[in-house]
Amino acid sequence: MSYFKNIAQNFAINYAHSKMKDSLYKSLNIDIIDKNYQKIPDDGKKYMLYAHVPFCHVFCPYCSFHKYKFEESLCRDYFINLREEMKQIKDAGYDFETMYIGGGTPLIDPDELFKTVELAKELFGITDVSCETDPNNIDPKILKRFKGYIDRISVGVQSFDDEILKKVARYHKFGSQEVLIEKLQNAIGILPATSLDLIFNLPFQTKDQLIKDIEISKMLSPEQITFYPLMKSSITRDSIAKTLGISDEDNEKYFYDVIRKEMDSYFQNNAWAFSKTKSNLADEYVGSNHEYVGVGSGAFSFLNKKLLVNAYNLEDYGKRIKSKQSPVIATCEFKKSEILKYVFLTKLFDGSVDIKNFNESNSANIKKDLFVELKLLKLVNAIYEEDGEIKPTEFGDYLSLVLMKDFYTGMDKVRAAFKDDAKIKSTKKLKVMEEDDVNYLNLDEKAQKRA
Ligand SMILES: C[S@@+](CC[C@H](N)C(=O)[O-])C[C@H]1O[C@@H](n2cnc3c(N)ncnc32)[C@H](O)[C@@H]1O
Ligand code: SF4
Repeated sequence: MSYFKNIAQNFAINYAHSKMKDSLYKSLNIDIIDKNYQKIPDDGKKYMLYAHVPFCHVFCPYCSFHKYKFEESLCRDYFINLREEMKQIKDAGYDFETMYIGGGTPLIDPDELFKTVELAKELFGITDVSCETDPNNIDPKILKRFKGYIDRISVGVQSFDDEILKKVARYHKFGSQEVLIEKLQNAIGILPATSLDLIFNLPFQTKDQLIKDIEISKMLSPEQITFYPLMKSSITRDSIAKTLGISDEDNEKYFYDVIRKEMDSYFQNNAWAFSKTKSNLADEYVGSNHEYVGVGSGAFSFLNKKLLVNAYNLEDYGKRIKSKQSPVIATCEFKKSEILKYVFLTKLFDGSVDIKNFNESNSANIKKDLFVELKLLKLVNAIYEEDGEIKPTEFGDYLSLVLMKDFYTGMDKVRAAFKDDAKIKSTKKLKVMEEDDVNYLNLDEKAQKRA
């Protein structure tokens, strides 16, 4: 790559970082509500259903998702509430074709999960269900029961490297490389699609370790392989440093290039997911469907320019559902300009922005509304236009990955804020990003400059 192109692209990454930071800083102003907030669908609009299952047997140091230690009766009661909330959503008039079940560990209680998916299919016109799981819940007996109910499971592998697995305390929990390979060999092929989730750019991870992870994943031949760049937020920064160490090197871009090269026989689904055949396998629920209803404790919904947050506290969530009170405890409204940037990012991340469709579904004029953004992205060779679509170049793919990572880190800040029950009860307004976070993101920028 030429010297000037390199400088321009580093500048673009830093500029995009700071713009995203700015957007999150200005937009994540949350109102804690006490009124009964009702979700109501708009006629003819398509929504996706997200269900959250916040239980794990043990916690991993890099993970900031909303979760509790598994207790059988607590979990069973939770699933009962989750099903009740789905019925309330049905009564409000919603329908869905796709459902994404995330966690935590949704398959932690297969009987309860089965009843929940079964009910979702009874209530709604759901034809496509994705579900996250850890490698301990992919026993063929369990998976066979879900045939016709779950279409895609994504299994958290993170890495096949025994040293890394030991450091993040997954070696004893979920098995060594050898054990993981065996579990996956037995599981892949039972449901229509299996995705392996891997994390790259872990501190001190070497190129050889990454290539080995890719080789093993390809050898297992799942329908999809997803490579998440390690995301550090203020919740996980210390535990990542304690378990994996602090490295002065940031290999994110370099390793991303390695992944793309090694995965060139696969189709790229979005900036971080690759599939064996050209298909439209749903990855993240924030991706292709930008309006979604979240059910469960701590679940986010994104409806009509608003982020809605369900009660985090399990007891509070349960009480609200049982008394038919809305589980929504907070809202955050975004300006139209922020929504347009967000939708544009998710579409670019997915691989293309159909201009006509974007304008129609967002009542927008993309060339006018995102004039500056499009000019800059073109200038640094991050996007190009073809047949009425705006598409990311190779560099654009990386840029959208970086921005999606920033966005997720912002959502981590929301999660962190809601962990503090006392604070939530004592305030009406919550500013999620603080000065400290801006400084923290600056650290990332320094690493980018070094790269
Ligand atoms: C919500 S987790 C559920 C996975 C499942 N409980 C497990 O442990 O296998 C979904 C996936 O998000 C990814 N993930 C979680 N924390 C991450 C982080 N800090 N950086 C990058 N990816 C992360 C991991 O690949 C993980 O498998
Ligand atoms: S990675 Fe999975 S098992 Fe580990 S804490 Fe997160 S949700 Fe739980």
